[in-house]
Amino acid sequence: MDDASIERSGPTRAATAIAYMAGFGNQFETEALPGALPLGRNSPQRCAYGLYAEQMSGSPFTAPRNANERSWLYRIRPSVKHFGRFKPMDCGLWRTAPCREVEVVPEQLRWDPVPLPSERVSLIEGMRTLTTAGDAQALAGMAAHVFLATSSMQDEAFVDADGELLFVLQQGGLRFVTEFGVIEAEPGEIVVVPRGVKFRAELIEGPARGYACENYGGKFTLPERGPIGANCLANARDFLTPVASFEDSDRPTSLILKWGGSLYRNQLAWSPLDVVAWHGNYAPYKYDLRRFAPVGALLYDHPDPSIFTVLTSPSETPGTANIDLVIFPERWSVAENTFRPPWYHVNIMSEFMGLIAGVYDAKPHGFVPGGVSLHNCMLPHGPDPESFEQASTSELKPVRMSGSLAFMFETRFPQRVTAYAAGSPQRQSDYVDCWRGLKKAFDPKRR
Ligand SMILES: [Fe+2]
Repeated sequence: MDDASIERSGPTRAATAIAYMAGFGNQFETEALPGALPLGRNSPQRCAYGLYAEQMSGSPFTAPRNANERSWLYRIRPSVKHFGRFKPMDCGLWRTAPCREVEVVPEQLRWDPVPLPSERVSLIEGMRTLTTAGDAQALAGMAAHVFLATSSMQDEAFVDADGELLFVLQQGGLRFVTEFGVIEAEPGEIVVVPRGVKFRAELIEGPARGYACENYGGKFTLPERGPIGANCLANARDFLTPVASFEDSDRPTSLILKWGGSLYRNQLAWSPLDVVAWHGNYAPYKYDLRRFAPVGALLYDHPDPSIFTVLTSPSETPGTANIDLVIFPERWSVAENTFRPPWYHVNIMSEFMGLIAGVYDAKPHGFVPGGVSLHNCMLPHGPDPESFEQASTSELKPVRMSGSLAFMFETRFPQRVTAYAAGSPQRQSDYVDCWRGLKKAFDPKRR
């Protein structure tokens, strides 16, 4: 599959060769060999099959029960055996907050899609950071990346200690072979790999491109629904976590560690993806954005885009997200006597936006699938003259907004642009001019 098809799949879940467990934040349990999971205890004197028991804590031990996340892994070798004498390696274009390598005049920014390179690059080599925000070692903020992959990771595994990784697939499928099992995803889906989880990324059919959010802060969770009630938006049952599967392989493998903003490599004589069984609520998952059930304007006005929040990374301040993942999915537009596109806006939160497929209603030109726009803290944005004119004069009959899927990483922290992003040939130097054509229409004699 190339570009994302934003058609929803059928009313029942399509059969897949990969087995998943449904639900969000469940206490899952899964074993690839019968009896590999100890019964009624976590740490028996001797584990079945000669496995080692290891706890992976995604929250402090003492986190409140609703935020406490950990899994128990039963593995061929404990992780201490996979870690060792790491050697520093080149970070390529991967950057980590705080990163003040370039000063960019504060203005609205936009980039064309980064073309896939002709040379072979893996997901890790093809990671290009556009913005960083907050401070990774203060466990706050994020980085927004574009990734390009023309090659599977060969005899390599990767682990990010700096943050949780949320991948938004835009072109081409990816297989994530993780410690917890295998996830396959296609454009239109997201994959979340928690901090500290080892994985290898493989191409499924051809090259892959997409976006990644590296979340230094609170783990992504489902937003509260408030008066919306118990259903709609992202429903828990549509999140899929892999079943246990392991590699008992003696192929030499490099484990790449990202820690403190740097990359390190450790050479192993085996695969570190060796978890035979696991249980707990700290695990990778995927979600098909096309399953999102939007709730919106039924009579008039344009609600805040927070109604389209898929996942949120909370901060210590209620309602002030470290990051929100917001999408703009297919939906009906029916509001009466309403300016229907997104309104003109000045926002304390910083908005990194990408287009997975189709045409975005506020910007019919210049913002294309694979592209990026950045509307930073307190920098105004809104429809261009063409969409303002069209939306101000069109007949307001029900319109199905079809064929488009956009998303936003919205963070409380201002986003610093990297040197790569500032100097990229894909940066549109004329983006700020897109509002120049807005005319003064004010006439004090006309109501
Ligand atoms: Fe906005």
